[in-house]
Amino acid sequence: MCGIVGFAGKTDAVSVLLDGLEKLEYRGYDSAGVAVVSQDGRLQIKKSKGRLAVLREQLSKSEPIEGNIGISHTRWATHGEPNDINAHPHTGENGKIAVVHNGIIENYLEIKQFLINEGVTFYSDTDTEVIAQLLDYYYKQNSDITECVYKVLNRIRGAYALGIICSDCPDKLIAARKDAPLLIGYGENSNFIASDVTALLAYTRTVSYMDDNEVAVITPDSVTVYDADKNVIEKEKHTVEWDVSAAEKGGYRHFMLKEITEQPEAIAKTVNPRMKDGRICFEELAENPDFLKDVSKIYIIACGSAYHVGMVGKYTLEKLLKIPTEACLASEFRYCDPLVDENTLAIVISQSGETLDSMAAMREAKKRGAKVISLVNVIGSSIARESDIVLYTWAGPEIAVATTKAYSTQLVLLTMFAVYYSDILGIITESEYVSFMRELELLPSKVSEILKDTEKYQEAAARFFNHDSVFFIGRNLDYALGLEGSLKLKEISYIHSESYAAGELKHGTISLIEPGTLVVSLATYAPLIEKTASNVVEVQSRGAEVLTIATQSNAEKLKTKKENSFTVPDTDPLLQPNLGVIPLQLFAYYVALNRGCDIDKPRNLAKSVTVE
Ligand code: M6R
Repeated sequence: MCGIVGFAGKTDAVSVLLDGLEKLEYRGYDSAGVAVVSQDGRLQIKKSKGRLAVLREQLSKSEPIEGNIGISHTRWATHGEPNDINAHPHTGENGKIAVVHNGIIENYLEIKQFLINEGVTFYSDTDTEVIAQLLDYYYKQNSDITECVYKVLNRIRGAYALGIICSDCPDKLIAARKDAPLLIGYGENSNFIASDVTALLAYTRTVSYMDDNEVAVITPDSVTVYDADKNVIEKEKHTVEWDVSAAEKGGYRHFMLKEITEQPEAIAKTVNPRMKDGRICFEELAENPDFLKDVSKIYIIACGSAYHVGMVGKYTLEKLLKIPTEACLASEFRYCDPLVDENTLAIVISQSGETLDSMAAMREAKKRGAKVISLVNVIGSSIARESDIVLYTWAGPEIAVATTKAYSTQLVLLTMFAVYYSDILGIITESEYVSFMRELELLPSKVSEILKDTEKYQEAAARFFNHDSVFFIGRNLDYALGLEGSLKLKEISYIHSESYAAGELKHGTISLIEPGTLVVSLATYAPLIEKTASNVVEVQSRGAEVLTIATQSNAEKLKTKKENSFTVPDTDPLLQPNLGVIPLQLFAYYVALNRGCDIDKPRNLAKSVTVE
């Protein structure tokens, strides 16, 4: 989704802004732009449709734009098609003020009409131009730019992260936020804003996270943050631990492959600090012993792959806690009038911690009295800050749009939480607990074992990449896993694919199976292997090509061609999805590679979906 970088310093702003935008490219965008104010008070803007490289080329071909204060943006179109005109930054009629914006202004049409009636002429189709023109309108009446920003904020409705510069204030950058992420970076003789910390890692690790309705006035030497009533507030500063190389490709062809390969380490980072003397220890929960008391219902709320983690969690939590658990799509939960009370536990899962639907669903659950635990990767993100308790996955920055290591770490963290809670409730037996812990410790090395031999996945991908439709089938935890396998494949390879509970096939879907149809059968969930094996026979007898992912001990129960059968090591059944997902990620990756797709930045997709 859109990215913002702003700079207030004493050196060239353009290079810092472009460099920052480059780090945000992974978020997905269709146009980019930059605006700077020169020392002699000229506002200069360059923007263009397409990738950052196009903007760079334009900048190199034209008169250089220079200034030490600037804002920049990568746009993911919502209002108005992707083109040069709709790209940000936007300006008002008098060309003094420039604005970049993430989010959506809901009442933009009403304000636009008001300004048109006042004689303002609009040039773009965007909601953002309304902010720039309204600022301009107020600025004509009162040339205190910060005052004008407040007036605009009081008038607009919706979500926004804003970066604003004005040619009359060549040392000032203004930022504002509501329901869209924005952080402030503190450097030496320079300060920054960004929608995502990765944009700033090369310059600073000291950041503070803006909260809703805050306005920041930033110069090279100072940062002053105000609340909605214009009171100055002290912001807490945080040190970002992620290192720069973690957000770089490091010799890999794609971030996705790098992140797949990083999974053993990422899982170890999630697990190891929480294992103490053979027990699972969540300090965050130990400090609040009453938090998990009297829970009578659990909702797991998330989107996309995080929702698929929730689907695994539904089976695991119900089994281990005996508490009714539902996995809910955040976009549905927020509008379904959910039955939530103070004995409800909402578990919100999100890599970015900024997914708007997940955040809104979390707020809805909270409003109705639920206690909220979030599982989040990005430290200090909105969901992390607003939940009652946050359990971080500590997977490090994930850049590829298709999640891999974040999914795996969410999965293991949720499973650990289930076992921890089950132990508190006295449900899991000591021998089950001990055996789980033994396997938990071995998990990173078992993931590494699968990753050692990627050739077979490359070969399978070479055989199947031309298929135009793929079905995934499995039961129980394997069904939940199939959902993720199917999403991985479709989002990066653009092959149509669906995942079904294997037992559901004969209730309709089997009519789509014809000679040559590819069916990926997941058979890692031991208790239901025989049932899954019969489903495999059913589709094979209708001519389907079956590719299986099974545990070593179950592999021979499935009668599939040797070259089409992948095995993963056996582990505790609760952890089996953590191994089963690796072949699915690799298969999707190599299929997409064979098809020549833009793997890290699939079409139409964004890494962090901060609009509804
Ligand atoms: O940042 P989040 O975990 O909240 O994101 C949720 C989904 O948008 C995300 O998992 C998406 O489905 C991925 N592209 C899947 O690979």
